[in-house]
Amino acid sequence: MQLTDKQLLKTQNYINGEWRDAAGRIDVRDPASGELLAEIADGTAADAQEAVVAAAAAFPTWKSKTASERAAVLKRWHQLILDNIDDLALILTLEQGKPLAEARGEILYGASYIEWYAEECRRAYGQTIPTHNPAMRLQTIRQPVGVVACITPWNFPNAMITRKAAPALAAGCTVVIKPASETPLSAMALCELATRAGLPAGTINMVVGSDAPALGQVLTQHPQVAKFTFTGSTAVGKILMAQCASGVKKMSMELGGNAPFIVFDDADLDTAVSACVATKFRNAGQTCVSTNRIYVHESVHDAFVEKLHAAVAEMKVGHGCDEGVTVGPLIHRRAAERVAQLVSETAGAGAKVEFGGDFLPEGENYFAPTVITGVSDEMRIAREEIFGPLAPVQKFTDEDDVIRRANDTPYGLAAYVMSENIRRANRVVEALEYGMVACNAGVFSTTVAPFGGSKESGIGREGGVEGMAEFYETKYCCFGA
Ligand code: SIN
Repeated sequence: MQLTDKQLLKTQNYINGEWRDAAGRIDVRDPASGELLAEIADGTAADAQEAVVAAAAAFPTWKSKTASERAAVLKRWHQLILDNIDDLALILTLEQGKPLAEARGEILYGASYIEWYAEECRRAYGQTIPTHNPAMRLQTIRQPVGVVACITPWNFPNAMITRKAAPALAAGCTVVIKPASETPLSAMALCELATRAGLPAGTINMVVGSDAPALGQVLTQHPQVAKFTFTGSTAVGKILMAQCASGVKKMSMELGGNAPFIVFDDADLDTAVSACVATKFRNAGQTCVSTNRIYVHESVHDAFVEKLHAAVAEMKVGHGCDEGVTVGPLIHRRAAERVAQLVSETAGAGAKVEFGGDFLPEGENYFAPTVITGVSDEMRIAREEIFGPLAPVQKFTDEDDVIRRANDTPYGLAAYVMSENIRRANRVVEALEYGMVACNAGVFSTTVAPFGGSKESGIGREGGVEGMAEFYETKYCCFGA
């Protein structure tokens, strides 16, 4: 790896301010080429326990710092990330596969959580409550919950860590992070920079391991973990939630989606197509807010499909480090095979592959950006989260009917509405049963707004003031006579 700062490439777990080895090893490979990038320490449940104990020991000192002291350390961390953006983006692209420009975007996005929460922690106000009894004084104070355990996914190996760790640390909590074993190098580099920024030993800990259930068990059930936060699939989220229940842990869950993308007959089709491409093909479709079902009004269906087809045909697929590449590989062969199976099942059920639809010769994890028409709501492609570069299009005729179809899913993460009619846009945005709805936009994620889902897409919010509230306990204090 051609890093300017070679010290950013770490291969061990980070516990109590020390890099720790382990008996076992995990291979980290470039999903584009299959090349071995690093052999990292395979952390165990015992390592996770040590990390929790270290975080618990560091908590009293970290929480008793003033907000501006914590903010100063976080701001140094933020600046170090910006100073090392080229190295961090390269690490991210090599272990995850997304194009370098997207990786840089993720580093900036991830860093913005650190800056924003460094500022926000100064405003952790409580309240003085008008009393019910003249002899009593009532107030609330906000206190950090304690040790926060985070399990983060491989699709955003940088930003999903900072989105959880930054508000937690800013609030005065200490953290233990378990990154995905496919993409641990970004997490390790973040820990290295956090140490350089002056985060005290034990404040931030990181354990990665191949036995995810064993590590997950410690992080959800250790008595010293106060709060658990997870980004990943709904299926795994449900298991982790059940594990959290025995200790009544606080939790936030950012789970799967099945995002509808509705194009009305009054939409600007160029805006709709560019929004659709942005949400669908960002990170090769491996994003929980990626469009999963594209509903197009029958009167503009053919024109929309023609424009979408043209836009997809212009995409350049390849290694994320190569000039001009806009779509990288999928994370592993299993993911590519699952996508291929979905295409053949959908085509077998009568849909038409308009573009793409197959593996690509660039490597075993590459699948072509694909446009499919004639899809129906009953097909698996419309009911399950695709997590790949497939754009399945359906027709609709009626506003109420498309709202009903869009809401007919257990998921409720993100939805998209394309319309130039302000009254319709408001009506439909309000009627969609989703945690986030974007109108005439394809990428809406930002530090300053709450990200999260309803129904089986999750609990809690990340980002914005809501994201900070997740890491505080509001204590009601009553002073008697
Ligand atoms: C995710 O896919 O989990 C996060 C996507 C985003 O932050 O936009």
